[in-house]
Amino acid sequence: MLSQVDEVASSAHADLQKVTGLDELEAWRVRYLGRKSKLISILRSLAALPVDERRDIGARANQVKNQLEASLAQKKEELDSSVNLSLTRESIDISLPGQPYHLGRLHPTTKTTREICDIFISMGFQIAEGPEVEWEYYNFEALNMPAEHPARDGFATLWVDYKTETGARPMLMRTHTSPVQIRTMEQVKPPIRVIAPGRVYRYEATDATHEWMFSQVEGLAVDKNITMADLKGTLFEFARRLFGTDRKCRFRCDYFPFVEPGVEIAIDCFMCGGKGCRLCGNSGWIEILGAGMVHPEVLRGCGIDPEVYSGFAFGMGVERIPILRFGIDDIRHFYSNDLRFLRQF
Ligand code: PHE
Repeated sequence: MLSQVDEVASSAHADLQKVTGLDELEAWRVRYLGRKSKLISILRSLAALPVDERRDIGARANQVKNQLEASLAQKKEELDSSVNLSLTRESIDISLPGQPYHLGRLHPTTKTTREICDIFISMGFQIAEGPEVEWEYYNFEALNMPAEHPARDGFATLWVDYKTETGARPMLMRTHTSPVQIRTMEQVKPPIRVIAPGRVYRYEATDATHEWMFSQVEGLAVDKNITMADLKGTLFEFARRLFGTDRKCRFRCDYFPFVEPGVEIAIDCFMCGGKGCRLCGNSGWIEILGAGMVHPEVLRGCGIDPEVYSGFAFGMGVERIPILRFGIDDIRHFYSNDLRFLRQF
């Protein structure tokens, strides 16, 4: 029996050398020190042995048991520390600076358009849209500018050839967003409160202050009892929300064939506070939009009775706003796709 104990001891030590992981170590423990292991059953059978044999074998078996337990504890420690070591080696150093991403951003025109629209949406206006290639009828005729009307000269027009079997019908690139007023009034009856953002086109040589394509936001409100006071209140509130609550507004007469009366709205220069500077051309005022009460002829043409309903309309250039705010010296920067310019916004 003594030799059996020694065999267990030597094979246990040999097997322990081969153990490389915690799972294997547990299997080793069950095999050599578990309840059903050889060594433990020898220890359990001691009581049945004669006294002198019991003492010798008992002493030896207990010694082996203690050795194995000590080896087990030592091996476990070794394995644990090597696991910890590889965890430390593989861990991520979160203090290392990351790789910067190049994020895309919104175009200054898009940003400004959204900013303008958000203000009017908060006042109860809805977004309307119309085509950029437009019928002459919507761009001019229905806006009280029949053929040969001198006001057409103010809108340098890009004409589009459109021929059908029944003859040609004049088409153009819309010169303003006002045709969306007509399209809206044809489709929905008052009360109407819409804003129409979009691109417009002019047949013009480009320079620092002219582009052949730019953006506008149009507005239209039609209802019973709409007066010039509504126009003033709405646009004054708009100007103050966009340019700051300490802005003053100036309303002056202007002429647009589709409104009567027509006005031009200016704010006091936010650079010099009205004293006069380079930005406002020394006048102290900056023109920001055109507006007026919708002309009765325009309402009638859309099937809205001007004796019952009235409305106001306004239109503004979008690029002009960042040009003023950021002192951009050339409108051509907006669509020349120079990232050095675009990344600044
Ligand atoms: N459509 C005009 C323009 O482009 C602006 C405007 C819109 C004026 C609505 C009055 C009312 O100049």
